[in-house]
Amino acid sequence: MDDEVESPWRAGGQRMSGAEDPWRHDPHLGEIVVAEDVLDKRVAQLGDELTADYEGRPPLLVGVLKGAFVFMSDLARAIRLPVEIDVMAVASYGSATTTSGVVRIVKDLDSDLTGRHVLVVEDIVDSGLTLSYLRRSLLARQPASLEVCALLVKEGQQPAKLDLRYVGFHVPPDFVVGYGLDVAERYRNLPDVRVYKGPVAVG
Ligand code: IMP
Ligand code: MG
Repeated sequence: MDDEVESPWRAGGQRMSGAEDPWRHDPHLGEIVVAEDVLDKRVAQLGDELTADYEGRPPLLVGVLKGAFVFMSDLARAIRLPVEIDVMAVASYGSATTTSGVVRIVKDLDSDLTGRHVLVVEDIVDSGLTLSYLRRSLLARQPASLEVCALLVKEGQQPAKLDLRYVGFHVPPDFVVGYGLDVAERYRNLPDVRVYKGPVAVG
C-alpha cells in the first residue's frame, strides 16, 4: 500500500509536470530562487562539513523559530554526530515583509549553554539585526563556542559584518518564501525557496 502513496508534486524524486504543482495558480509566487534538489545537496554538504568540524565535541543546535524548523530538521539528520536540539523564538518582523528593527525573545531556550558548543541555525539573514542580537544574548551565557549556520544570506543588506561561519546560499535581496520561510504563516511547506510577489500581509 505504502508504495502507492506519492506526494502530490513529486514522483520518484522528480518534480512532476507543472500541472501537478499545487502552487501553480498562486499569482503571488515568483521565480524559484533555490530549487529543492539544490537545497538537498547543499544541506548534505553542510552536514558533512559540520560532522568534520565538530568531531569529538557534538554541538547543541539552536534553531530560531519558526523559519528554521525545516532547515534544522534536514540539517540535524545530515550531521552524523550525537547533536542535541533546542529552539528559541524571536520576534522581529510580525507578519509584514519589512524589518521593524525590534528584536525580542518570545520563547527562550530550555538548555543551559555554559560550556556547550552552540551552533545557531537560522533560516535567513536580512539586515542581520536578529542575529547580532541573538549572538550577544547567547554569548553572555558562556558557551564554549558559538557559531552560526544560516541557510540564506541576502546580499548587500547587512550594515555590519556578521561573522557567519556556515552559509547555505547568498541570495538577492528579494522577499522569499518556502522551506520554512513564510508570509503570515503561509508557504512554509513549499519544498523550494521562491520569490514572493504578493501584497504585504499585515496580521
Ligand atoms: P533580519 O533581522 O533583518 O536579519 O531578519 C531576519 C528574520 O526576518 C529571519 O529570521 C526571518 O524570520 C525574517 N525574514 C527576513 N527576510 C525574509 C524573507 O525574505 N522571507 C521570509 N522571512 C524573512
Ligand atoms: Mg518570519
